[in-house]
Amino acid sequence: METKRIYISTSQPGREALAEAARILRDGGLVAFPTETVYGLGANAVDAAACAQIFRVKGRPQDNPLIVHVSGKAEALPLIREWSEAAELCARKFWPGPLTLVLPKSSVIPDEVTAGLDTVAIRVPSHPVALALIEETGLPVAAPSANLSGRPSPTSGAHVWQDLRGAVPLILDAGSTQVGLESTVLDLSAGIPTILRPGGVTREQLERLLGQVSVDKPSSDRPPKAPGMKYRHYAPKGDLQVIGGVREKGLERMAEEIAKAHRRNKKVGVLCTLESAPVLHAQLPDLLFVLGSEGRPEEMASNLFEGLRLCDSQEIEVILAEGTEESGIGVAVMNRLKKAAGQKVIPISPAQG
Ligand code: TXA
Ligand code: MG
Repeated sequence: METKRIYISTSQPGREALAEAARILRDGGLVAFPTETVYGLGANAVDAAACAQIFRVKGRPQDNPLIVHVSGKAEALPLIREWSEAAELCARKFWPGPLTLVLPKSSVIPDEVTAGLDTVAIRVPSHPVALALIEETGLPVAAPSANLSGRPSPTSGAHVWQDLRGAVPLILDAGSTQVGLESTVLDLSAGIPTILRPGGVTREQLERLLGQVSVDKPSSDRPPKAPGMKYRHYAPKGDLQVIGGVREKGLERMAEEIAKAHRRNKKVGVLCTLESAPVLHAQLPDLLFVLGSEGRPEEMASNLFEGLRLCDSQEIEVILAEGTEESGIGVAVMNRLKKAAGQKVIPISPAQG
């Protein structure tokens, strides 16, 4: 299949491009489009066959449900059975934006979208292109991240092109996304609101709004409530280690690991903060990628997937990533980093010396 890539302005999305994309969606085809979190691979959410195509194109496990994107609360209501007080508060405060709500589904939503679950995940994206596309299409749009399964979510049109060229008819390319990590998934379908996936909206923000909010903690005998969270998602080709904790000690450790990799003739890549970069640069890693400034986890969030993709394209064999504090959006950054590393984290504490 030939893939068309249309460059589209975020501030003034072109009407013609939107009309073409909407036509493809209404006809049962797939369109990759930007959101403020990551790019999505969209299909008409009430067309079971179109949604089934998403799974084929991505190589996505059948048991992993899709998020449905709508343009506002009014468009969300027909898709669900109950709209709670908590849902109302969340929608008022965080829609449009990077918050996905899991709610009891209505019969409008086909089982293909929810992988047979009785709930549906819904969000209103804030990216002007995404919103305009959904409005133009006049339908709810099911969209997972527009990567091949097992690759990091795409944060630019170029990433989507790498993964889906030849597999989809149209990519709307508006450059880089802003948040850079996927939305927070919040389960409002039963009991205490529960975060199933940390993301752009933080637990602190949700607690201020809703009071008690819990975090889904799967164990060896209970799988995660968001089926997608059981997958490692992304294993870079290189061996990734996350170095957490105090910066000075972490830096010493990273310098040691760089030297060790070089002694073994391995190509070594470093993902680190701006503040650590000069010291690590002096160790001559084969790749040094700045994730953002220390204490600004939102910068790290926005650059993380780009850094991981770069390590793969440069065939880096040993990857050392500097961790960040697990608060605010730092929780989501560490969640994605730990998953990519298969939970390989080297904690560095001051007491260790
Ligand atoms: O920011 C985002 O959320 C992006 C953009 C494109 O909107 N989308 C995204 O979709 O990250 P995806 O498919 O990569 O991740 C959806 C996550 C998965 O972990 C899935 O298991 C979970 O949401 N999910 C979807 N429906 C659910 C449901 N009914 N109950 C529990 N978890 C659900
Ligand atoms: Mg995904």
